[in-house]
Parts: sequence; structure tokens; C-alpha cells
Amino acid sequence: MNKYLMAVPGTRQISGDDKIFGISKAAQDMAAEVGADKVINATIGALLDDEGNLMVMPSIIDIYRSLSPAEIAEYAPIAGVPSFLKNVKKAVFGKYTPNGYIESVATPGGTGAIRNTIQNYSALGDTVLTTDWFWSPYKNISDELGRKLDTFTMFDADKNLNLSSFSSKVEEILSRQTQLVIIFNAPAHNPTGFTPSDSEWDSIVDILKKNADNTDKKIIFFIDAAYIDFAGEEDASRAFFSKFSDLPENILVIVAFSMSKGYTLYGMRSGAMICVTPSADIAAEFKTVNMFSNRATWSNGTRPAMMILSKIFEDETLYNKVAAERAEFRKVLDDRAKVFIEYSNKYGLEMCPFKGGFFITVLCDNAEEIGKKLQKEGVFMVPIGKGLRFAVSAVSEEKCKIVPEKIAAAIGK
Ligand SMILES: Cc1ncc(COP(=O)(O)O)c(C=O)c1O
Repeated sequence: MNKYLMAVPGTRQISGDDKIFGISKAAQDMAAEVGADKVINATIGALLDDEGNLMVMPSIIDIYRSLSPAEIAEYAPIAGVPSFLKNVKKAVFGKYTPNGYIESVATPGGTGAIRNTIQNYSALGDTVLTTDWFWSPYKNISDELGRKLDTFTMFDADKNLNLSSFSSKVEEILSRQTQLVIIFNAPAHNPTGFTPSDSEWDSIVDILKKNADNTDKKIIFFIDAAYIDFAGEEDASRAFFSKFSDLPENILVIVAFSMSKGYTLYGMRSGAMICVTPSADIAAEFKTVNMFSNRATWSNGTRPAMMILSKIFEDETLYNKVAAERAEFRKVLDDRAKVFIEYSNKYGLEMCPFKGGFFITVLCDNAEEIGKKLQKEGVFMVPIGKGLRFAVSAVSEEKCKIVPEKIAAAIGK
């Protein structure tokens, strides 16, 4: 926006509508005009069936329907319903709870956890660090709160995590700033689908520890785990958490949990932020400051969603039912991804290293231009940096076979 009427500009640069929702709307408009069968809308970050309908886990809706009126309608405490706060730790860490003091605070989705972390653990004007491929709301939230967002190069030439870029950016920012929030979206990163290997996680922890040797500095490592339930088998995808045990006091780990994808409750706006620290005082402070921020922004969270999670983790039969349904959903996603990658390889497309999740990114120069060209062909993807993000979550296996050839043609391969 260049000119404000009544609103104040604040610290933000507002540039039109949300890009992802804008492209999705264009796909819907085209589908209304020429017919849905001629349009492939690969922009949506939600799991859709082959006909384009939202896939909702039936067990979750059954639990919702079983809730009493008070369980649905009553205000939740500002920090969250106690049984939710206890069980969300199990939902996130599984068998791999790190050693340390662990506190949780309910937030409206993972988004709320990102907002509270930036608000409470970086100073006005500070730089927040993330990967160069990133989910655009990280920037919106940083702008809104008067912080800058900087990035490190995510991949090296061999498509492994670029640990030297990570290390040098952390050092560089900490040379001019007392504390640093690092946002790391894993496992099953959006938009690339990347998950660090076991040894890459070790190296990340080593780099954090090395920088924490200077005890005047404070590092907040924020793990955005929004896609953890679609990052392979539930146990294996959580094993890395135990590496965050017994860290120095000046490293605070915060994990963002989301009920949007893993519980198919996108519209319920429920999630949590969970801290891991060796200090009881830092954990208590975490609770206090984030409850204050909850109160000062959205107040309390969505009680029925919190009740659903509590009930799942307090009833083994229910838990197994949810896990089985989710495994079926995950299979749909994994099968589509396999086909998309197979055909992309066939047509010589280069991709970011995909390990799982909702999105695959195809590398291309002039992504904006190629994206527009593909829209004319009825294929809608989100241009991000030097790539086009394809939502396997939203496109049938059959259509996953068709798109790579169209991308190759648009690029001129
Ligand atoms: C990378 C990433 N982080 C966090 C979220 C937060 O989701 P929610 O606020 O719905 O929990 C999303 C949702 O699309 C996401 O893609």
C-alpha cells in the first residue's frame, strides 16, 4: 500500500492480497469459467481428496460431536485447558521428550506460537533468522511486530543442509545483537518438503552450542513442527527431539504445534508453543510472558479443539483409531509425491530435496513468469524465490502425473 487513508502504516509493508490465497482464487475463478476438470489448483495447503474435497479425519469429528455443550462453549483458561497442556507434550514429542523443563501454552494454531515467540524473544528492530526457502507469514509477522527477517542459504550444491551458511549467519547476527530467534521449519518443511538427516540435526545442535559459548548471547531455536504428522512414520519423525536435551541455559528451544494438518482441524485455530530449557526459572518465565501475550492479543484459545486432543491422548483405543486414519491420509500424500517426483525426473525437472509433507518445490528461474504461463494452461502453483511450489496435498495422483510435463514445456526443457 502506498497511501493510507485512516490506518497508520506502522512497521509493515502491505503489498496487496495474500499471494497464496490470490493464486488459489484465480484457480477457482478459472474452474468456474471453464470447468473444474480443466484446472489443477496446486496452491492449497490442505489435504484434499481426488475430487478436491477437504479430507477430514472421521474420528476427529466423532470426538467433536461427543463433546458436551460446556466442553465446546466454555472459555478456556488463558494458558489453555490443563489436560491439553499436558497431552500436547505427548503429541509433539512422542517417545522422544528431551531432558529439561518443559512448559506449554496454547495458541491459535502454529501461527500464534510464531507470533508470541517473535514478540517475546526478540527486541523491536532485531533481526530474526530463517531459511531462504520459507513460509511467507514469517515475514508478515516479523514486519507487523517491527522486526526484520533475514535468511541463510538452506541447501548446498549437493542439496544437503547448508550448515556453513547457517553457522555464519548465526555468528554474524549475534555479533551485533544480544539475542537471536531462529525459525526452523522441520520436519517436512514448507515449501520444500525437506527434513534434516540425523547427522544434520547433530550439526545444528553443535552450531547452536558453539554460539552459546558466549554466555552474553541468548539463542532461541524455534522448531515449527506444523507438518510433523505427515513426515513419515510417527515415531521416527520425532526421534530428533531427544537431541535437544541438556542444552546450555542460554539456548531456549520452542516447538510450535499445530492441530491444522495433523488433526485436520484447520479452521479451529488450535496449537501450542512448548519450551525446552535446563532452567526452571526460564520455563516459568516462558509461561508468564506467553500467557500475557495471549491475553493481550487473542485472549484464550479454542476449547473444543483442546478437548479433542485431550480425549485422544487419554484413551488408547481412540488414539489408535486416529493414528490409523492419519496413516491412511499420509499414504495418499506419499503416493502422490512419489508419482510427482517420478514424472518430474522423467521430464528432467530439478527439485528441492523432498522427504515428506504437503509440498514439493520445482526449481526454475523466472518463477513468477513461468507460474503465469502455467496458469494459462490451467495449472496453478505458488512461485517462491527461484521455484514453484506444488501442493501434492491438493492434487490427485492422476494429475500429479500430468503436471511435470507441463512445467517442463513452460520452462522450455
Ligand atoms: C510452515 C508452516 N508453519 C506453520 C503453519 C501454521 O498453521 P496453523 O496456524 O494453521 O497452525 C503453517 C500452515 O500452513 C505452515 O505451513
